[in-house]
Amino acid sequence: MKTFLKVVIFSVAVILFYAFYANVMIPQVRPAPPPAEAKLDMGSLTMEQFIHMGDEIFHGKGTCELCHNPVGGRAPLLDQVGKIAEERIKDPRYKGKAKTGEEYIRESMKEPSTFVVAGFGVKGTNDTQSPMPVVTSGAIGLKDFEVDAVIAYFQQKAGVTVTVQLPKETPKATEETHVADPAKSGEEVVTKYGCGACHKIAGQQGALGPDLTKIGAKKNKDYLRRAVLNPNADIAPGFPAGMMPPDFGTKMLSGEFEILIDYMVKSK
Ligand code: HEC
Ligand code: HEC
Repeated sequence: MKTFLKVVIFSVAVILFYAFYANVMIPQVRPAPPPAEAKLDMGSLTMEQFIHMGDEIFHGKGTCELCHNPVGGRAPLLDQVGKIAEERIKDPRYKGKAKTGEEYIRESMKEPSTFVVAGFGVKGTNDTQSPMPVVTSGAIGLKDFEVDAVIAYFQQKAGVTVTVQLPKETPKATEETHVADPAKSGEEVVTKYGCGACHKIAGQQGALGPDLTKIGAKKNKDYLRRAVLNPNADIAPGFPAGMMPPDFGTKMLSGEFEILIDYMVKSK
């Protein structure tokens, strides 16, 4: 009992001390400015930082990992693509313009259907059409220097010489979607979480999953909730299980989730 009292008294003392200290001793604190590294100074960018940027784009705003991951198995793994790229351009099926591995990877990102890795084409097209979205336009919209950063990341990962050049000028700041900014409309939620990479939805043309432009005519809210939170609970007929990422439920804000479900239910 005595110890308990001591703890209480001590805690109260600490709280009072900080309340006093915070209000009187320090001038009222303003929100801290964003960390300096948020604004990258391209002038003094090192290759190491550039590769790190590519790593972040691959796992973040590029949405590459939605498909290029060892779980879904619907896109080739890219750990060795820095090396494999050289082989691709010698493939008899290759009809693109790339002369080097670097050019092949850039072309894969800008015009995915130029060469379709065997077995990964859109169903029924005999590997002539890639389901991968053009990542330099539309919702993903990577800038040229961001494409280069991803190539540098791939080359380093595969252990080959990094051939891309560092950007010469400071590129215009890209508008990053901050995870903390809640999306306010169905379209924004779709863009923020990359649904359009796989689905036809909100003007985007994904080709790996079912067309969702009229999903509300067939499915109710309960079904749609479950489809996003637990994609493997029901598998849309004719589509592969295990491909839709199972973790949107933990990433989305609850408000965003409700906006998204409303949006889909009204798509008729
Ligand atoms: C919607 C799924 C999807 C997304 C998102 C996606 N890809 Fe792909 N990607 C594929 C598929 C499927 C293939 C294989 C078919 C082909 O060759 O186009 C592929 C092929 C590639 C290749 C050629 C691989 C090889 O072995 O020749 C590269 C390079 C590549 N993707 C890079 C990227 C990068 C970088 C991003 C993100 C900026 C990305 N992809 C986003 C599905 C996707
Ligand atoms: C990497 C590709 C991929 C991404 C990204 C993706 N999905 Fe899917 N989704 C699929 C596939 C494949 C299916 C069909 C298999 C299944 O039912 O799980 C599917 C199924 C669905 C279904 C059920 C459709 C039906 O007719 O039963 C809904 C709804 C859905 N997705 C919504 C979304 C939403 C919303 C997002 C973004 C938050 C999203 N998906 C992101 C691949 C994806």
